[in-house]
Amino acid sequence: MRVADAFRDAYGGEPTGIWHAPGRVNLIGEHTDYNDGFVLPFAVPWGVTLAARPRTDGVVRLSSLQEPGDVQVLDDLGGGLEGARGWARYPAGVFWVMRGTGLPVGGADIVIDGDVPRGAGLSSSAALEVATALALDDLYGLGLAASDTGRMELAGIGRRAENDFVGMPCGIMDQAASALGREGHALFLDCRSLASRRIPLDLAAHGLRLLIINTGVHHELADGQYARRRQECENAAKRLGVAALRDVTDLAAALGELTGAERARTQHVVTENHRVEAVIGLLRAGAVPEIGALLNASHLSLRDQFEVSCAELDVAVEAAIRGGARGARMTGGGFGGSAIALVAEERVDQVRDRVGQAYAERGWAPPTFFTATPAAGARRLA
Ligand code: GLA
Repeated sequence: MRVADAFRDAYGGEPTGIWHAPGRVNLIGEHTDYNDGFVLPFAVPWGVTLAARPRTDGVVRLSSLQEPGDVQVLDDLGGGLEGARGWARYPAGVFWVMRGTGLPVGGADIVIDGDVPRGAGLSSSAALEVATALALDDLYGLGLAASDTGRMELAGIGRRAENDFVGMPCGIMDQAASALGREGHALFLDCRSLASRRIPLDLAAHGLRLLIINTGVHHELADGQYARRRQECENAAKRLGVAALRDVTDLAAALGELTGAERARTQHVVTENHRVEAVIGLLRAGAVPEIGALLNASHLSLRDQFEVSCAELDVAVEAAIRGGARGARMTGGGFGGSAIALVAEERVDQVRDRVGQAYAERGWAPPTFFTATPAAGARRLA
């Protein structure tokens, strides 16, 4: 494996093990996780592969095949974990959280290799966090990966690294999908109780494909707007006197009490939670193609009520539907990244052409396309 070769080149000697954690795509349940709501993501076949060996002196050395020449040594001379820069903040944050919560985690030599398509919004950062947490769990004998509860703890460690060390106020969805994903299944997660259920998702059995359309754009406002949406949701919940928007049961009454952004955000979050439950119901009933209409509704709500879409995502979704997709929506945080389209096998080429054409007409760089089936979650490879 090339990550093991890179490890030998970088540090000499053999790594103790090799671990992999996947990125994710979200089928439905967008911007609901930090509102204590429901999500339905699945792990994708791309992610982060990491080779590591423990160190007794507490020092952390990090290098990445995607960032050649940037070996970061995090010790007292280098400012400790806080000295991490750029991509290295994600793994450094995981050490920081684990040590901070009193877990017996020493140092390590680590090499990272990633194959999540760039700019696709498929959670390469969550994959990096979960891969690091899983490796440390194993290297330091913590045993968390052995159970689903423990895996959810690993996901929580990744999320806290991102929230408190990197400074991105994300929810738990991406890390949970990476830590708990299973081949052929989506992960239905209640982001309040953290109870999860794996839902069989065999699109091929229904003659369907999930097409991922990577717009290749990442608008600069993404991070600031994400934090702002979170704040607006919290403000709305406070005004309504509930712990989180998840608790709104009478939507009409709630909307009557709110105005402006708070009203619109609430409308999205409450209806999106219902859409997740409706999708679960349809999947259980084997009515897979029917979820398309809910994907479409989710997109309109994200575009008009939550206001996190952008022209590139809207054009991809509209062209996919015109090209014959059963349904399509933006996926992930928004302002770029990817859209997904549920497409009958025989229409995949047509949908691809339509979207490509729509981009070409606008003079935009062509999007890239992937199809993905649910892959396994984080695991040790060697
Ligand atoms: C990003 C965050 C997730 C989630 C989505 C929106 O991917 O990392 O926690 O909030 O946006 O659903």
